[in-house]
Amino acid sequence: MKCRKCQNKASVHMRQHKLALCKEHYLEWIPEQTEKFIKKYQMFTREEKILVAVSGGKDSLSLWEILVRLGYKADGLYLGLGIDTSTSLSAGSGIAYSQESQRLSEKFANEHNLKLHVVDIEKEYGQSIPMLAQSSHRGYGKPCAVCGLAKRHEMNRVARDLGYDVLATGHNLDDEAAVLFGNTLSWASEYLLRQGPVLPETNGLARKVKPLCRFYEREMTAYAMLSGIEYIYEECPFAEGSQSIFYKETLNQLETARPGAKLIFYLRFLEARKSGELFIEKNVKLGLLHACPKCGQPTSTPDFCSFCRMVEKANVKTE
Ligand code: AMP
Ligand code: FES
Ligand code: ZN
Ligand code: ZN
Repeated sequence: MKCRKCQNKASVHMRQHKLALCKEHYLEWIPEQTEKFIKKYQMFTREEKILVAVSGGKDSLSLWEILVRLGYKADGLYLGLGIDTSTSLSAGSGIAYSQESQRLSEKFANEHNLKLHVVDIEKEYGQSIPMLAQSSHRGYGKPCAVCGLAKRHEMNRVARDLGYDVLATGHNLDDEAAVLFGNTLSWASEYLLRQGPVLPETNGLARKVKPLCRFYEREMTAYAMLSGIEYIYEECPFAEGSQSIFYKETLNQLETARPGAKLIFYLRFLEARKSGELFIEKNVKLGLLHACPKCGQPTSTPDFCSFCRMVEKANVKTE
């Protein structure tokens, strides 16, 4: 297979796009496409300050690299979750997941001369994610729900406190298609209404963007590897056996039988939503938000926000 642009030997073959490219042209193609998506969905401009949430994984580190390469003003945010177990892949290596992902995020920032904010949840709130999960009813002791809540809360808090215009995450097409699949299976219309490449700023919530949402996971792996980014290979140890992994595997089977199915599933959803074809546009109104009396962030729950309630409850239990 030859590169479409230069006829040299292709390194990456994308069946779903009927496109094969050599290393050099692939490393140009991904940022070019990203720039197109940023413009198409009006994510941000070169004048705006971007905060990239980096986990030490291939997607978010590649996103940071791409934005900087394209000339955007982007700083990083790493959240220390305090997950000190190792994954099954690295079991026995003694390397804790959070420690390793922090090391790789910091290494990337140093090597590229970029600014990385680090927030440690345990230092900030007295409890790490696994500790918070132990004392929470969310997810029956499995930390993922607590972790998701804490990450959303902290990303928004830091973005707003430090005056960033927009918060960018590394979600790729596989992530977005899996979420969409789950929400469609249960027709979770409120969630469907909020899913998309851009979530506009609303009272107290920073604008959120996902510039990589149209790239397949394997395209991002190829990008990170070919551009020499050192990232953490392992998934979070708690992700094993999760519903989102099951949905991803199911969609991968579909994709194998019908190349492009995942992209079509996601893009047609975006089109239908935009044109107002979905029933959700007509019937669902987003709940009204008010400021949490403790942290000031917007919430739809009465009184304190879910995050503040969770932290308070956890601290009462351990006092
Ligand atoms: P995940 O929820 O782990 O699939 O991650 C989705 C996106 O959330 C990543 O691409 C990052 O942008 C962001 N993210 C995940 N974990 C962290 C973390 N510990 N610190 C900062 N951002 C994170
Ligand atoms: Fe948060 Fe796994 S529980 S990343
Ligand atoms: Zn080429
Ligand atoms: Zn709060």
